[in-house]
Amino acid sequence: MVQRNEPELRPLAYADLPRAVDMFMKANEDNPSRHYIDDTPDACAKASKFANWIGLFIGSARAAIKHEAWTIGGGDSVVCYSSPSDTLSRRRKRLYTILDWLVDASDKSLSRIFRSSRQRARRAEFSAKITAAASGGIGNRVDQLISIDYLATAADKQGRGYASRLVNQVTAMADAQSRGTWLFTGQYNVGFYERLGFVNVREFALGDDPTWTKGPVVLCVMLREPQSLDSNLLDRGLRDHNLYDNPTTADVLSL
Ligand SMILES: CC(C)(COP(=O)(O)OP(=O)(O)OC[C@H]1O[C@@H](n2cnc3c(N)ncnc32)[C@H](O)[C@@H]1OP(=O)(O)O)[C@@H](O)C(=O)NCCC(=O)NCCS
Repeated sequence: MVQRNEPELRPLAYADLPRAVDMFMKANEDNPSRHYIDDTPDACAKASKFANWIGLFIGSARAAIKHEAWTIGGGDSVVCYSSPSDTLSRRRKRLYTILDWLVDASDKSLSRIFRSSRQRARRAEFSAKITAAASGGIGNRVDQLISIDYLATAADKQGRGYASRLVNQVTAMADAQSRGTWLFTGQYNVGFYERLGFVNVREFALGDDPTWTKGPVVLCVMLREPQSLDSNLLDRGLRDHNLYDNPTTADVLSL
């Protein structure tokens, strides 16, 4: 239940972007996959931090422009996601294609200028493995699903249910469109997403670079199939009545 004094969940505004990006940067400081990608022997830490900040700013701005970002507390907790463009008008589809192209081009330029060759090689490994794991774990329909691209809550606001509310907002929309939702995350977050209906469908590991001296960094592809309103209500009804483990037809009819 949402507390009355809790900040509201609302679309991410442009004015929220600097705070949201600072929050994403801090939330990911200990992220093992970020360490893998950034901590190379030839890296300039300041340059890659700058590139990460600008890259996150551009990625979050794209999500805000497309109305694919929500926040609680104006940057305390933020989710950015991507939807397939098949429900958009032709004009919007064209606009978004140009926007995507601009974002990709700026990302490539940022990499060329601010990232070292080892960092670029590790990023290439990262994106090739995500693509392979997503299509291996989910199949061709991955392009028809909604993907959660960024999710984080500021350290001092964690444990208040903010990220769960944001993910539920996205999955409720996915349910209304009868679409699945997918994402990739570190093994340490699997429990969090499982509570929200996601299933770990594929694991993969980063660590091909011989200059990486630590162990492999394991990531998981997680998928949540769409749930119909009826099955949502049914699940809740069964749980509320302690009938979840072994419901009979009569139990279901009695709800
Ligand atoms: C993961 C993260 C987004 C959770 O944010 P949050 O706002 O604290 O999450 P919620 O308050 O909605 O958590 C709901 C529940 O999940 C639990 N939970 C939070 N993180 C968890 C995790 N990694 N594994 C298992 N459970 C977790 C919380 O303890 C809480 O349990 P409770 O209801 O019994 O108290 C936050 O820890 C974070 O920003 N982490 C760093 C960035 C990151 O890893 N983002 C995800 C990238 S895909």
